[in-house]
Amino acid sequence: MQCYNVTLWGGLRVTGAQPTLSICTTCRDGLEARLETRGGVRLAAHVVEEHARRPEIPMKLRGIRCMSQCKRSCIVSLGAPGKFTYVFGDLDPADKTHVAALFELVEKYTKSVDGFLDRRERPDILQASILGRFPPLESQSHLVSDLQAKAS
Ligand code: FES
Repeated sequence: MQCYNVTLWGGLRVTGAQPTLSICTTCRDGLEARLETRGGVRLAAHVVEEHARRPEIPMKLRGIRCMSQCKRSCIVSLGAPGKFTYVFGDLDPADKTHVAALFELVEKYTKSVDGFLDRRERPDILQASILGRFPPLESQSHLVSDLQAKAS
């Protein structure tokens, strides 16, 4: 596992493990017949291109064949060891602002110790399109309670 707690070129402060942005490559956006590729593949291609332009943002990119949120395509998730994991939907491969929002999100996530990002900290499109937010199993977040703890 690659871990960071350094300031990189460009001033980006990186805390914790390198995040992974997962993109569903089988999501459809309704343009498959005309464009001959699935929306998820096109979204992934745009993200890969943007990452090539912005290598100062450290992240792994991976494709996943279906994340079981097909009705809200296109779907991505963002996570890192020891950090919150997020799932987002309704991303439009043709909208460059959606790709830009993902990079803004990753940048903020990278700076956060546990990956928690308040709704207002997320780019607008990723406020409305969130489908899940999951603390890491070992989380000490105030959002998590032990339902088997003995009452004192
Ligand atoms: S095809 Fe993308 S979530 Fe199912």
